[in-house]
Amino acid sequence: MTGDPDGMLSWDESVFRNEGVFEVDYVPETFKHRESQLESLKYALRPAVRGSRPLNTVVRGPPGTGKTTAVQKLFSELGVEAPNVRTVRVNCQVDATRYAVFSRLFESVFDYEPPSSGVSFKKLFGQVADRLVEEDEVLIVALDDVNYLFYENEASDTLYSLLRAHEAHSGARIGVVIVSSDLSLGVMDELDPRVQSVFRPEDVYFPVYDAPEIADILGERVKRGFHDGVLGTQELDTVAERTAESGDLRVGIDLLRRAGLNAEMRGSRTVSEGDIQEAYERSKYVHLARSLRGLSDSERGLVEVLAEHGGEQAGDVYEAFHERTELGYTRYSEIINKLEQLDVVETEYADVEGRGRSRSLNLAYEPQAVLDRLE
Ligand SMILES: Nc1ncnc2c1ncn2[C@@H]1O[C@H](COP(=O)(O)OP(=O)(O)OP(=O)(O)O)[C@@H](O)[C@H]1O
Ligand SMILES: [Mg+2]
Repeated sequence: MTGDPDGMLSWDESVFRNEGVFEVDYVPETFKHRESQLESLKYALRPAVRGSRPLNTVVRGPPGTGKTTAVQKLFSELGVEAPNVRTVRVNCQVDATRYAVFSRLFESVFDYEPPSSGVSFKKLFGQVADRLVEEDEVLIVALDDVNYLFYENEASDTLYSLLRAHEAHSGARIGVVIVSSDLSLGVMDELDPRVQSVFRPEDVYFPVYDAPEIADILGERVKRGFHDGVLGTQELDTVAERTAESGDLRVGIDLLRRAGLNAEMRGSRTVSEGDIQEAYERSKYVHLARSLRGLSDSERGLVEVLAEHGGEQAGDVYEAFHERTELGYTRYSEIINKLEQLDVVETEYADVEGRGRSRSLNLAYEPQAVLDRLE
C-alpha cells in the first residue's frame, strides 16, 4: 500500500492483499505444527502406493485442529504421485447414510452421479467394486465428520461394507480413514461387534494448538492476506489468545477477516485492538454456525422450541416440541442427544424434592445468537 500509513483509505484501497485466504475452504500452502500427524497418516496410507490395501485409520481431535486439511493435503499429494490410488473424501455432515456415501464413491469412480432412485445399494456397491478391480485401483475413502454417520445410526453398516468389500468382491482394495471431532464419541465402542471384529485401525490424534502455535500459523495468513503493516504483532497475539480460548483455528481466521473489514469500515489502514474485540463478538460463534448448518427441519424445530423454553424440564420441552412437530418421544430423545453432542444443548441434572432426579435443558448459547444463525 502506498501513502501515509496512518492516513485514511481511499476508495480504491483495501487492507486486504488477498481476502480469499480467509475463506473457509481455502487450503493453506503451509501446514505447520502437524508434522507427526502427517507422518503417521503417511505411514498408514503408504501401502496403497505399492498397490496394497492401506491401514485403516481413525483420526480424532477437537474442531478446527487441521484434520480435514491434513487429509486434503495427503490426498492431493497421492493424486500427483500415485496414479493407481483413488482418493475420495466424503463429508458425512452432508452425506449421512451408507447409500449417500456410496453414491459419492460411485460419482468419483464413474465421473457421474448414480440415479437418485431405483438402484439398490447392493448394485451400487457392486459397480463401484468391479470398476476398482477392472482399473486395478486402490481406493482410500475418508469419512470426514464421521460422527454424523453415528448420529444417524449408519456408521456400522457403512464401515462394514467398506471393510469387507474384498470378501464380496475379490480383488477390491479399499482403505478407510475416519475423521471425528466429537471426542465424547467412543468410535470403537459404538460400532457393532461384527464391525469391531474386522476393524483394527491406527490412531492419529490432533490436539488443539496452543496460543504460540496459533500465532505462528495465523501469522502466515496475515502475510498473505493483508498488506504489510496492517496487523501488528501485538494485535496478532490478541487474535491468537482469543482463538486459543476455543482452540478452533477457524475462530482465528474468521476473526482476522472481520477485524480487517472493521478497519476498512473506519477507513483505516491498520487493524486496532478495538476492531478485533468487536469482531470477536461475532467470530466466537463460528463453531455454533457450523453445527447448526447440518441440521434437519425437525432438529431445527427443537432448537427453536428450546430458544423459547430454555431451562425447562425435559418433559415440558417435549410437550412443546410434540405440539409443533407431532414427533414422538423416541425421536425427541435422539435429537436431544445429537444436539448435546454438538454442544448446542446443555443438560442439567438436579434433585427435586419428592420427585427424584430431574433433567432440565438449555441452549449452550444466547438464544438470540442461536436463532440468528439458524436460517
Ligand atoms: N497447521 C495449519 N496451518 C494452516 N492452516 C491451518 C492449520 N490447521 C488448520 N488450519 C486451518 O484452520 C481451519 C480449520 O482446519 P480444518 O478444517 O482442517 O480443521 P478440522 O480439524 O477438520 O475441524 P473440524 O473437526 O471442525 O472439521 C481451516 O481453514 C484450515 O485451513
Ligand atoms: Mg474437518
